[in-house]
Amino acid sequence: MKQVLIPCLCLCLFVFGCKSSESLSVSKTMDQAEAQLEYSLQNHTDKTKYPRSVKEDGNLYTVNSSDWTSGFYPGSMWFMYQYTQDEKWAQTAAEWNAALEKEKFNTKTHDLGFMLYCSFGNGLKFTENATYAQILLQGSQSLIKRFDPTVGTIRSWDFGNWEYPVIIDNMMNLEMLFWATKYSGDSIFYKVAVKHADTTLENHFRSDNSSYHVIDYEKATGKVKAKKTHQGFSDESAWARGQAWGLYGFTMVYRETGDKKYLEQAEKIADFYLNHPNLPEDMVPYWDFDAPDIPNAPRDASAAAVAASGLLELGRYSLKGVTYYAAAEKILNSLSSDAYLAKPGTNQGFILMHSTGHMPNKSEIDVPINYADYYFLEAMLRYKMLMPNR
Ligand code: GLY
Repeated sequence: MKQVLIPCLCLCLFVFGCKSSESLSVSKTMDQAEAQLEYSLQNHTDKTKYPRSVKEDGNLYTVNSSDWTSGFYPGSMWFMYQYTQDEKWAQTAAEWNAALEKEKFNTKTHDLGFMLYCSFGNGLKFTENATYAQILLQGSQSLIKRFDPTVGTIRSWDFGNWEYPVIIDNMMNLEMLFWATKYSGDSIFYKVAVKHADTTLENHFRSDNSSYHVIDYEKATGKVKAKKTHQGFSDESAWARGQAWGLYGFTMVYRETGDKKYLEQAEKIADFYLNHPNLPEDMVPYWDFDAPDIPNAPRDASAAAVAASGLLELGRYSLKGVTYYAAAEKILNSLSSDAYLAKPGTNQGFILMHSTGHMPNKSEIDVPINYADYYFLEAMLRYKMLMPNR
């Protein structure tokens, strides 16, 4: 089915692209992003402190390798290498990867996929560096230590008053596990990833196909104790980035397994997201679809970037591909406009403006954030694969 769909979709996209009134210029946007990354590197030389965001006082907010966002900065450089094929980007990305290696033994976080697969995983894709494969394999072994067979998931957090919390974001960390089975031949990683996806599918979604942020499980039985939020407006609201993580995550699990139920789930999430009455005209969502102060609520460009990248992959597999492609193109057009794309030399070196990290915590509101930049670059490169002449 996939083989038949892809050429058909490419033809549709070509026809659509020719008729599209909005013309997205990948080269113009990527050139601007490259200039901005260069500016960031000129101003920031400590390769153990990863730029994450901007503080309230306007200064750069950097984090250590153990932060969940540490891999996105080198990951963005690997994307720049993919785009430019300029060895200087591979060299710089490798230098920024280095301090992350020790996290391969970190069993205190579920975010090893974000931290290691976006950095070393991207490096491996573009350079076939065997050392990176060993780091990713060790990281995968560390990650599955957080899997509990009774609950049927990888545990998300060790902090807070939760008994056994699992967040929708955790879907994103499964990609490294699928890679680990392909690389090592050991099916344990694949089995953990599939079980985690199945348990998430069963418990994280509402009847309208939006997702809860956190499911807290009873550890002894695996029963659901509570369905809550942490970063959303309320327990029953649809936190925008959570919807985007789910969309991207289930699309990826379909790619890795070929099981249609994951494709159907990804389509349901995409349809909830794209048809939501509170999705603004420019398709960059408010931080929560149910934020009380819409239309004055802050936007979340990071959710838009993750969704665009997910939609571009989902479009390859779905019969609704042209719709998803058109939506992604519109999102990328918005993010490439002056409203979101920072001028080189501004925005503390980050590519995009206007993301929201943790509204209930009153932190990272309407700021640049490194994962917005990472998924924006990935989406632009996915778009370029489909439309090479843009
Ligand atoms: N994974 C944490 C977040 O999306 O903010």
